[in-house]
This record gives sequence, C-alpha cells and structure tokens, in this order.
Amino acid sequence: MLKGVASEKELNLIRRSFEVVGDVVLIEIPDEVMHYKDKIVEAILKRHKHVKTILRKIGEVSGEFRVAKYEILYGDRTETIVKEHGCRFLVDPTKVYYSVKLSGERERIAKLVGKEERVLVMFAGVGPYPIIIAKHAKPKEVVAVELNPIAVEYLKKNVEMNKVDVKVFEGDVRDVVPKLEGEFDRILMPAPHSAENFVYLLPEKVKSGSFVHYYTFESENKEGELPLKVKKLFADYGMLVEVKKVRKCGSFAPYVNRYVIDLEIQ
Ligand SMILES: C[S@@+](CC[C@H](N)C(=O)[O-])C[C@H]1O[C@@H](n2cnc3c(N)ncnc32)[C@H](O)[C@@H]1O
Repeated sequence: MLKGVASEKELNLIRRSFEVVGDVVLIEIPDEVMHYKDKIVEAILKRHKHVKTILRKIGEVSGEFRVAKYEILYGDRTETIVKEHGCRFLVDPTKVYYSVKLSGERERIAKLVGKEERVLVMFAGVGPYPIIIAKHAKPKEVVAVELNPIAVEYLKKNVEMNKVDVKVFEGDVRDVVPKLEGEFDRILMPAPHSAENFVYLLPEKVKSGSFVHYYTFESENKEGELPLKVKKLFADYGMLVEVKKVRKCGSFAPYVNRYVIDLEIQ
C-alpha cells in the first residue's frame, strides 16, 4: 500500500512481518517512517480484519518480567485471548511475556511428556507450557512457578479457562523450588536470558532419567559449542547429563538465536 507513496529507502525501513497475538498486532516501526503510521495501520487492518488493537514496540523485552514497551497506535484494549493447540490464553502483552513464535516448541515438548510424569515448569508466564502439557499429555502432576504477579493472575485464570489441573506457585523459583516436595521427571527452564543462574536449584529436584529442557541465547557461530558448554555447566553443580538434542527455536538479535537443549540426567 505504501509503494509509490514512500521512497525505496523508506520502504526498506518498514518491517514486513509483525506478531499477531489474538486480536492484537505487535509491530516495530522506526521513527523515520512514523509519518506513514496511518497508512501502515490501514494496511494491517485491511489484511487482518479481526484485529482490534495495534501496538508499536518502543522498548525491547527487558527486566525480570521480560516485558517489552509498547504504545497504542490503534484501538484501546490491550488484553486479548490467543488460541494455541486447542487451548485459550488470556494475555496482555503490555504487562506479561507471551510469544506466539514459541507455539511449535510448546507442542514439541508436550508430545515428549510421558504418562504419569511429574513436570515442573519454572518461569511459567501466563501458562502456555504447563497448560498445553496438562491438556495434551497424561502427566501425574504439573507444577508452574512464576514471579510476575500479573502473569500469575493470568496463569490462574488460564488454568481455570482450560479446565486443566496445574499447581500454580507465585514467587521466585529461588524461594519456591527448594520447598517443592520430591523429584521431577521433567523440568522446563524457559528463561533463556538467565536460566544458567538457576541450574543450582536442580540437583535436589532431579533423579537419574529425569529430563531437563534448558533454554539459552547463543551466537549462531557458537551453536556447535553448546552441548559441551551446557554439559560443563551442569557438571559444575554435580549433574552428569546426556545431551539429547540442541534445537534452534527462535532468534533474539541478528546472528543470536534462542536454543533449547534437551538433557537427560545420568
Ligand atoms: C521468557 S518468559 C517465559 C514465559 C513463559 N514460559 C512463556 O513461554 O510464555 C520468562 C518468565 O520468567 C519469569 N521470571 C523471571 N525471573 C523469575 C524467577 N526468578 N522466578 C520465577 N519466575 C521468573 C518472568 O516474569 C517471565 O514471565
């Protein structure tokens, strides 16, 4: 829609991709082309008729709660419902972390969960991992821990809305996890910016044969070093692990990706 209106240089500055979260669009628009804001909004609404709100990202995902900053370009409501793998999630991207791009990864993990497993999801956010696991696998128990009180509110509502059994704990994993009883068959650590700081919590909570899904950011050219690096990190806390898989599951910055490393405790 902007062809013939904006210059080639300006067109190159306009991102062609954006994230659609329920009926909310999250888009990045550089300052240099903000004078085309109305045209961009019009173009999005023409293509995505169900969209009620358009948010412009004005600050990167940051802080402990991993939330980006947005300004409203269109609409007024920022809360929305997202459908994913037969589940529904109430989220407000201006207050909590949620990424549509991880839905394939969540489906993959849910398929790995065996019957009667005890599963711990650290850094649970609004609950996509624990809820999809509880809905589609046959675990014995799913425990979810989250620090952001607003995310916990959504997590509890989402557990109710999806009619699943997930035990929700609000708080810092550093305080909550040591108090959880027994060992887990599977532990998820979906906090790629800081998961390494929490590995020390695991030795008391795993047994031989437990699986850990460890998420981290790494430069593309260092992908090959990940298995050894993670093995060493776990060995530092007394855990011998077998690396079952290294999988790229998103990008973070140019040439820096999000990886998940599937580990089995030996
Ligand atoms: C990258 S987000 C992932 C959220 C969710 N697993 C998902 O995939 O949508 C990381 C989450 O960890 C939470 N968090 C950060 N530090 C934490 C801590 N020390 N204890 C518990 N949760 C924490 C943040 O509030 C955030 O919701």
